[in-house]
Amino acid sequence: MEKIGLFYSCNTKKTALAAKKISEEFDHKLEHVNVESLTEKNFSAYRNMILGVSTWFDGELPNYWDEFIPALEDIDLKGKVVAIFGNGNQKGYPENFVDGIGIMADLIEKQGGRLVGFTSAKGYEFESSRALRGEQFIGLALDYENQAAQVNVKIKKWVEQLKKEFDME
Ligand SMILES: Cc1cc2nc3c(=O)[nH]c(=O)nc-3n(C[C@H](O)[C@H](O)[C@H](O)COP(=O)(O)O)c2cc1C
Repeated sequence: MEKIGLFYSCNTKKTALAAKKISEEFDHKLEHVNVESLTEKNFSAYRNMILGVSTWFDGELPNYWDEFIPALEDIDLKGKVVAIFGNGNQKGYPENFVDGIGIMADLIEKQGGRLVGFTSAKGYEFESSRALRGEQFIGLALDYENQAAQVNVKIKKWVEQLKKEFDME
């Protein structure tokens, strides 16, 4: 099977925890790329990609992703299939819940990438989110602070969905 790239920072706790679970559900067939040492070359090495993007600073990307954005704006993502998961806190930050997913999704689409892995926003309580498109999140929203017990179930379901939506021909 062609390797799928799993991009997240090793220096996170909850994102790394979710990434480990995602990897398990893919029977460890993913290749981990540490976002803190990301280059244009290793970002472009995979057709199917999973990005771990949490939200920090009231609706912004974590620093380690921010630093890569200027390079990302020069990369052609045509033909790439991208799924985004992100941690947030709907009670603590209801006006910016998982905005990071939405910020990254916009960038990926602007560069020609195709997004997959949309999920229902039902069962969450928040006021606004840049990750919303209609009734759906344009990725997988995880909230370890308020819905920890649901995280693994959501991941399992999402991975089943990705196995169908990724381009594996
Ligand atoms: C200073 C700070 C700002 C945050 N801002 C947001 C936010 O705007 N939206 C959101 O959904 N979560 C926000 N969070 C919650 C984090 O996204 C959440 O704790 C997440 O689990 C962090 O995952 P990570 O440590 O793997 O990056 C914030 C947390 C902190 C500490």
